[in-house]
Amino acid sequence: MRETKLKKFDVMISEQEIDRKVDEIAAKISSDYEGESIIVIGVLTGAFIFTADLVRSLTVPVETVDFVQVSSYEGDKSTGNLVFKKDISTDIEGKNVLIVEDIVDTGRTLKQLKKMFEERNPKSIKICTAFDKPSRRVNDLVPDYNCFTIPDKFIVGYGLDYDGKYRDYKDVRIVRTDDE
Ligand code: IMP
Ligand code: MG
Repeated sequence: MRETKLKKFDVMISEQEIDRKVDEIAAKISSDYEGESIIVIGVLTGAFIFTADLVRSLTVPVETVDFVQVSSYEGDKSTGNLVFKKDISTDIEGKNVLIVEDIVDTGRTLKQLKKMFEERNPKSIKICTAFDKPSRRVNDLVPDYNCFTIPDKFIVGYGLDYDGKYRDYKDVRIVRTDDE
């Protein structure tokens, strides 16, 4: 079953390319925060693998790693308000916060999440994403750190899912929309 599915997906980014890029971004982050420490907040579920890889490559002191889970609540008329399914259990006041996301698409999630965390008065707040689809953006959200800019394709693997599946793939694959 899994093998049949796998053949349908073309590899977009290999495991080796991801490893290399994550180390590169971690080095940049470590140098930018030199002399400081940071709190890393991964956005569940997609960012669980990237967060684990990233924190192990950072050389800057990581005070703690926490996770947040959000969903956008679609009201009758409104277009999605962000609600916490799981809030962090860390006090971020006066701290350097690094939000780690799997992919920035429209930018709606991170724009709102950043604002919600800013209200808690951190010293600084930055965003690090594994993948970025800037062509899909509906606002001015720009991640501070991004491993890969990708075209408007639906991708899976390295934590990203399609209907809950394929998060465990070590590489990143494009989900085909045709019926091949
Ligand atoms: P947005 O930036 O608020 O539109 O939402 C980004 C979220 O949409 C990500 O955190 C993913 O959960 C999901 N997403 C967007 N594009 C993809 C994709 O290509 N593959 C898997 N999930 C995606
Ligand atoms: Mg996500």
